[in-house]
Amino acid sequence: MKHNIAVIRGDGIGPEIISEGVKVLDAVSELDNFELEWVEYPHGAEHYLSTGELINEDTLKELAQYDTIFFGCIGDPRVDTGVLEQGILLNMRFYFDQYVNLRPVKLLEGVPTPLAGKGPADIDFTVVRENTEDFYVGIGGRVKNRKKSEKLEIVRERYQVKFGLDIETDSDELAYQIGILTREGCERVMKYAFELARAQGKNKVTSVDKANVLTHGYGFWREVFTEVAHGYPEIETDFNFVDALCMWLVKNPEWYQVIVAPNMFGDIITDLGAMIQGGLGLAPGGNINPDGVSMFEPIHGSAPKYKGKGVSNPIATIWAGAMLLEAVGEKSAAEKVINAIETVLRKGKVRTYDLGGSSKTNEVGDAIVSEMKIGG
Ligand code: IPM
Ligand code: MG
Repeated sequence: MKHNIAVIRGDGIGPEIISEGVKVLDAVSELDNFELEWVEYPHGAEHYLSTGELINEDTLKELAQYDTIFFGCIGDPRVDTGVLEQGILLNMRFYFDQYVNLRPVKLLEGVPTPLAGKGPADIDFTVVRENTEDFYVGIGGRVKNRKKSEKLEIVRERYQVKFGLDIETDSDELAYQIGILTREGCERVMKYAFELARAQGKNKVTSVDKANVLTHGYGFWREVFTEVAHGYPEIETDFNFVDALCMWLVKNPEWYQVIVAPNMFGDIITDLGAMIQGGLGLAPGGNINPDGVSMFEPIHGSAPKYKGKGVSNPIATIWAGAMLLEAVGEKSAAEKVINAIETVLRKGKVRTYDLGGSSKTNEVGDAIVSEMKIGG
């Protein structure tokens, strides 16, 4: 069996962490007798600065031919904030309709957590983040001269939305940002969360919102969640306001099994999740379209100040690689990678600076490969 994978290393530490991911996946493909073909794409800050291209339609069409995409990270101090994020990462998530952002939050043995008195048995849940809607649709504007008329539009393959706005204000300057949630958009990600709970033998799904204040959008989210939950009577449900959830994730993370969240809250709570599982160096994510092309990445940024130093922790990327393998049907290989990550962390001899060690990025990749070879 052969899997074709497009690779976008991106900026900062992206190239060095992706090298370790590719190394580990190649090694496990030999052990499990399947083939991986990697094709590199140069997109990121350097490519943008030299060509002016973020990622164009032709490239997106070409990427659609692959089985999956392995993505490093983007962001560069030479490019204005938001340009690469919106023009590359969000563009891809939307183009491929990767409506689930799957983020396991699991404290592995041997990894220190900042939560006193909590251990691996307490921190083990999955965040299912909606990945295509909410404030992330990116429409809005500013009114400076008291009056403005404008049309805003969201064009997706599944639907289009047009807003015609007539704004009058006597404030000096105002900014507005419009978020949307569609019924189909909510239902599909919520169903994914319930199906995931079922598949993992979990019995509770928690929905996150701020329905007490943002009643239009997140009140709707809550309503749809309640309807979807009726289809899964054996699974217990719970609602948390996002502020309270942040509190409980610190105090009682063991309460959670599967959390389903709108895009922006999902973004925020998964950085909190990353910290309690030992840091951003250990937090993987999958941008998933169950019927299309998915993309796997560490959830951290490009850490420009560590670029090229070879000291960053590649485990988030390697773990994202394991999620990629599972998504293309190589479940046993995915398990081998996860087991080897766990063994290396448990042994504690090879670890990067973020975990209190002094190992290099490539030594972590090598250690994981060795453990896989001896069945660790
Ligand atoms: C993430 C990141 C992105 C997001 C940024 C880089 C656009 O924070 O993947 O969590 O907000 O989704
Ligand atoms: Mg984030």
